[in-house]
Amino acid sequence: MEVVPQRDSGHEPIPEHVAIIMDGNGRWASKRSLQRLRGHEQGAEAVREAVRGCGDLGIRYLTLFAFSSENWSRPVEEINHLMGLFRYFFNKEINALSEAGVKVNFIGNINRLPEDIQSLVEEIKLRTQHNSKLILTIALSYGSQSEIAGAMRQIAEKVEAGELAARDICEEVIARHLETADLPDPDLLIRTSGEKRLSNFLLWQCAYTEFVFLDTLWPDFRKDDLIAAVREYGSRNRRFGAV
Ligand code: IPE
Ligand code: IPE
Ligand code: MG
Repeated sequence: MEVVPQRDSGHEPIPEHVAIIMDGNGRWASKRSLQRLRGHEQGAEAVREAVRGCGDLGIRYLTLFAFSSENWSRPVEEINHLMGLFRYFFNKEINALSEAGVKVNFIGNINRLPEDIQSLVEEIKLRTQHNSKLILTIALSYGSQSEIAGAMRQIAEKVEAGELAARDICEEVIARHLETADLPDPDLLIRTSGEKRLSNFLLWQCAYTEFVFLDTLWPDFRKDDLIAAVREYGSRNRRFGAV
């Protein structure tokens, strides 16, 4: 029988916050001589699996990288198809997420998205705002450098207005001005598809995150992959710079 890591079991600790770079949809499709778009479609099932899996394992926070600010430079047909999928997925899943006790939030430049998706985003946030079983954050049109630049601008404005002294700017002040202000830093970051880079995801927040890189392509990601990554996390010795 599969041994599933348990929270508070005294060993194999469960991460409180898992972040996932969902990569490899295009390669999944190419391997099958299908259009890249088919890979994105299959990726939706993996998202459901990740959300359910985190709920089952008792993970409190899940953050998913769905579309980066750099992904806007993809061919317009691929972007349009992805927007169509977001539209379909959000419409279809809003009830299930809300009933499963999932609170959904978004980070990223939401105002670059088509207006109807912006409205959907608002509706999902509103509908799920009182939930607390799992805090799901979807990074959509998100780029970490742009997020940090935005935080710096806000801080500079407060200094200009005399609300904040330059000498008081510290790590906590910066963290409070990021879009992730309400989230703990990720304990575990998973990237699928074998790529080993952050691609402008949560650069500040991942200062002490454990990274697990899986060769699995995102459309093939299942609960067992999550369990494997969590088990790998449990075997790590986190020192945070101490001995
Ligand atoms: C991840 O899969 C999904 C998005 C970035 C939107 P990719 O589309 O990057 O797939 P690969 O990396 O080309 O295989
Ligand atoms: C990162 O994947 C963004 C998402 C998974 C949403 P990419 O496929 O865009 O990253 P690169 O181009 O390989 O770095
Ligand atoms: Mg990719």
